[in-house]
Amino acid sequence: MKIIKTIAETQSYINALKAENKSIGFVPTMGALHEGHLELLKRSKKENDISVCSIFVNPIQFNNPEDLEKYPKTMKTDIEKLESVGCDVLFAPEVNEMYPDEVSKEYDFGGLDKVMEGKFRPGHFNGVAVVVKLLFDIVPAHNAYFGEKDFQQLAIVNEMVRQEKIDISIRPCPIIREKSGLAMSSRNARLTDKELAIAPLIYHTLFAVKNKIHELSVAELKKWAINELHQVEGMEVEYFEIVDTVKLQPVNSIHEVEHTVACVAAFLGKVRLIDNIRLS
Ligand code: PAJ
Repeated sequence: MKIIKTIAETQSYINALKAENKSIGFVPTMGALHEGHLELLKRSKKENDISVCSIFVNPIQFNNPEDLEKYPKTMKTDIEKLESVGCDVLFAPEVNEMYPDEVSKEYDFGGLDKVMEGKFRPGHFNGVAVVVKLLFDIVPAHNAYFGEKDFQQLAIVNEMVRQEKIDISIRPCPIIREKSGLAMSSRNARLTDKELAIAPLIYHTLFAVKNKIHELSVAELKKWAINELHQVEGMEVEYFEIVDTVKLQPVNSIHEVEHTVACVAAFLGKVRLIDNIRLS
């Protein structure tokens, strides 16, 4: 695997491959790689000639300084994992390389960033959109792979690509879970053993909600889920929303729109976890 730290070298390397008519797949990440990230790479390998991964812990998408400071950094094992799935290129820049100047861009995402993650993490999605735009300029790929684990992020990336008129295909990939049901996340590494034992309740609650959509109203489902999650010590729900999968706006009834998704964010101790499940 070729490891590159500068923007100029990455751009010229990728552009040379494109000139040879190679198709390029791209998986942007913040590192601390797990099976969820590797699945995106495996899909990219299947669908492209060359697969590129980026590892960059993007400071401007963290609204909580402690979350940024504590974000796990495991570059050595990340490189081994990327090599094990046959990743061709790793772009791993320093902060100064990505942001030599202050960032001033402000996207307008309409209602998309006013709910859920956007509501509780001010500035987060602007930071995500800015870095993904920059990464797409540096790695002008044909296809880019994003996990449905970050359902709202996927919608934001699609909207940014539409607004910026970027010629790239955004490929959504399903959530990869531990055997326990817990959605894989780099942040899981910060959970204590006790918290790790409790954390699968988030998925089990989402799963139960999916099974209750014909029995309970949206308001009842939300109340039931929040109550269920609050049964365990240390779990603090930030939001539990049932929204349509396109505009991500809360619905009054599951049956009034074609596709809905239940999304949750909860703190387990100091670690903030998110998960979601499609309902219809
Ligand atoms: P990160 O959290 O490292 O995630 C990188 C990609 O892996 C995202 O598309 C995310 O949705 C996906 N992913 C994470 N856990 C997953 C799981 N359990 N199953 C499937 N996919 C999973 O998301 C980011 O980084 C950043 O915001 C980024 C897009 C790189 C911009 O900085």
